[in-house]
Amino acid sequence: MTRTVLVTGGTSGIGRAIAARFAADRAEVFITGRDPDTVERAAEELGVHGVACDATDPGQVAELAARFSELDVLVNAAGGLPQAEPGNGSALDAVLALWQANLAQNLLSAVLTAASVRDKLTSGGCVISIGSIGAERGGGAYGATKAALAAWSASLSRDLGPHGITSNVISAGYIAGTNFFRGQMTDERHRALVEETHNKRPGTVEDIAETAYFLASPGGRHITGQAIHVNGGAFTTR
Ligand SMILES: NC(=O)c1ccc[n+]([C@@H]2O[C@H](COP(=O)([O-])OP(=O)(O)OC[C@H]3O[C@@H](n4cnc5c(N)ncnc54)[C@H](OP(=O)(O)O)[C@@H]3O)[C@@H](O)[C@H]2O)c1
Repeated sequence: MTRTVLVTGGTSGIGRAIAARFAADRAEVFITGRDPDTVERAAEELGVHGVACDATDPGQVAELAARFSELDVLVNAAGGLPQAEPGNGSALDAVLALWQANLAQNLLSAVLTAASVRDKLTSGGCVISIGSIGAERGGGAYGATKAALAAWSASLSRDLGPHGITSNVISAGYIAGTNFFRGQMTDERHRALVEETHNKRPGTVEDIAETAYFLASPGGRHITGQAIHVNGGAFTTR
C-alpha cells in the first residue's frame, strides 16, 4: 500500500535526502520549506508534492495538515541555526531573541506539526524528528532546544504508543553537504569534527535518510521513545 509521508524542511540537506529515500519507495511524499520558489523547485526535482509552510506558524501548519486525511510518516527535519539579529534593544533582549528563535525553529516547529496531524497518523506509522549531537554537549541555545526536542519526542511516544505509532529522534552528528552551516564551515573545523569520529569521516545525508527509512520499516516497530545517535562514534552513550 502506498504510504503518505510528510517531511518538513524537505527542500535541502537531510530532509531532502529523506524525502528522496521514501520517494524511491514509491511513497506519496510531501515536502515543506519556507520559500515558495525553493519548495516548488525541490518538489519538481524530487518528483514529490511541495507545500510552502513555515513550521513555526500555527496558521500555516494548520493549512498544511488540512491537506491530509491520513498520514503514515511524519519527519520533522525543519530546523537550523537561527542568525542572531542585531537589534536596537538591550543585550538581554538579544539573548531572549536568540533563544526564542532557536525554540521556534528547532522545537516548536516539530511540536506544532505533530499536533496538527496527530489525529491523522495511522496505526503502524511513525514520527521521526531530527535532533543533534549538540544536545549532548553544551550546544548553547541550539543544543538546549535539540535536547528539549528529544524529551518532547519521548513524551509523544508515550502518547502515541497505544495507537501503534512510534516516535523517535535521530540525533545526528556532523553531516556534510547541507546548508546548515551557511558556508561558514572551515577546513579546520571540518577536520576536527571528522577526527572525533571513530570511522574518520563526516556523516552524509544518506546516513540519516537510511536510518529514518529503517525506523519507518517493519523492523523498527519496537523502537520508540528513543534518541538514535548517528554520528560515527563522535558521541557514545557509554
Ligand atoms: N547538518 C548537520 O551537521 C546537522 C547535524 C545535526 C542536526 N542537524 C539538523 O538536521 C535538520 C536538517 O538540517 P540540514 O543540515 O539538512 O540543514 P539545511 O540544509 O539548512 O536544511 C534545513 C531545511 O529546513 C527548512 N526549514 C528551516 N526552518 C524552517 C521552518 N521554520 N519551516 C519550514 N522549513 C524550515 C529549510 O528550508 P528554508 O530555510 O527554505 O525554510 C531546509 O529545507 C535540522 O533540524 C538540523 O538542526 C543538522
